[in-house]
Amino acid sequence: MAIREIKKYPDQVLRKKTEPVEAFGADLQQLIDDMVETMYAAPGVGLAANQVGVCKQLTVIDVSVGSEETSLIVLCNPEITYHEGEEAHEEGCLSIPDYSTIVKRFGKVTVKALDRHGKEIEIEAEGLLARALQHEIDHLNGKLFVDRVGRIKKEFFKKRYKREKAVSSR
Ligand code: NI
Repeated sequence: MAIREIKKYPDQVLRKKTEPVEAFGADLQQLIDDMVETMYAAPGVGLAANQVGVCKQLTVIDVSVGSEETSLIVLCNPEITYHEGEEAHEEGCLSIPDYSTIVKRFGKVTVKALDRHGKEIEIEAEGLLARALQHEIDHLNGKLFVDRVGRIKKEFFKKRYKREKAVSSR
């Protein structure tokens, strides 16, 4: 296993639409293991493949960040098949360090996907897991959580980000 580099905003790979996973062989297993290790090391509750530069519909999620063995979820080609309600909560992203803001999401979701061996699975979730699922599926569609906030907040984020970048490159 190896820790991979997490691509940071505004890297264009984060904006690319990902391709469905079709082969479940050794390469995919290696990528999944690396992504899990990278997520735990960060630490974070979720990581999408394009965040490590691989444009595949693959994400790993663990809302316990490795503290509960059973809570690791590996999803290939995930799709939201049902949603209910709305919840606003603070959210951040490993690709946008040191920034978090309130984002509105569905309160409950059902997600259909394939597991790491290509077997069909379905997950019903609410709370943090529902939020993580929506956040990661957004990644796979080239979308970031800062796209889901209002115009004023978005302008504020862009300005702040540019300023910090200017400071750190001096
Ligand atoms: Ni993220």
